[in-house]
Amino acid sequence: MKTKISDNNLRGRDLGQGLVRKESLTDSVDDMTKRMLVDAGIGPGMHVLDVGCGSGDVSHLLAKLVGKEGHVIGIDRDGPSLEIARDRIRKLDLPNITFIQRDICELSPEPGQFDAAVARRVIMYLPEPVDAIRRISATLRPGGVVAFLEHDNTMVPGRLKPLPLQEKVNGWIRKTIEKEGANTHIGFDLPFILESAGLTVEHIRAESIIQTPQTNYPTVAIIRAMLPRIIQKGVATEEEIDLETLEQRLIDERTKASSLYVSDMVFTLWARKPGIPE
Ligand SMILES: C[S@@+](CC[C@H](N)C(=O)[O-])C[C@H]1O[C@@H](n2cnc3c(N)ncnc32)[C@H](O)[C@@H]1O
Repeated sequence: MKTKISDNNLRGRDLGQGLVRKESLTDSVDDMTKRMLVDAGIGPGMHVLDVGCGSGDVSHLLAKLVGKEGHVIGIDRDGPSLEIARDRIRKLDLPNITFIQRDICELSPEPGQFDAAVARRVIMYLPEPVDAIRRISATLRPGGVVAFLEHDNTMVPGRLKPLPLQEKVNGWIRKTIEKEGANTHIGFDLPFILESAGLTVEHIRAESIIQTPQTNYPTVAIIRAMLPRIIQKGVATEEEIDLETLEQRLIDERTKASSLYVSDMVFTLWARKPGIPE
């Protein structure tokens, strides 16, 4: 079992508001995202809203699925992320994506504009998720679909042997986002939130991220990107984290233990707006 660690996977990724990120990130959750989008019925010619698009990774997946006849609008409230997103689509020549700076709470595009709305790792950060999803739903045509992907901490970590460093590092991420108000049990709440917002849930599933001695989820890149927030929230100190040696220490620990580590559960769910398309 030998897995090449993509350089892209080690560059960092968007986990929350205000992260400074580098371009062209390949996310190891992309496969799960693609499966969700396809299974939710997103395909050629559709007009899709990517809510909390960040630097546009999900928008890119969507643009490929909807093709030239379709269109993707990515919205996010974070200006620097949108600058990266716009720069990336210019370089990649993706004319069927538009990025707009907008807070979900101010969402008021023409009702019924979109066939689908998608959000990845966004709903967990919203203080009023039912209200936000009502707003998102208002942008859909009758019969339109929403598809959401969220990480959930309820059932993790999973391991047979102790991996104390891995556990500590994942704890830094979880504690920081919890202190910022994120719902880290969102997977269990999501169907009820959607139903309260008037949507009919069609499917929910959960998959896990499994780390082995050979494979490596980009934990250190995430810690690097979150470092100021981890320190600011008093979760760990720079000395304790020791970023330069962290990657190697994690690899050494997994190799020595010869053990799998289930670090994340990823919930995907899709639901439909009532009504028959005109
Ligand atoms: C963890 S990132 C996910 C980015 C992207 N969906 C992805 O998976 O690559 C969360 C994003 O949601 C955005 N966000 C959070 N709350 C928002 C709100 N109320 N309105 C608009 N964007 C919001 C943040 O700015 C951030 O870019």
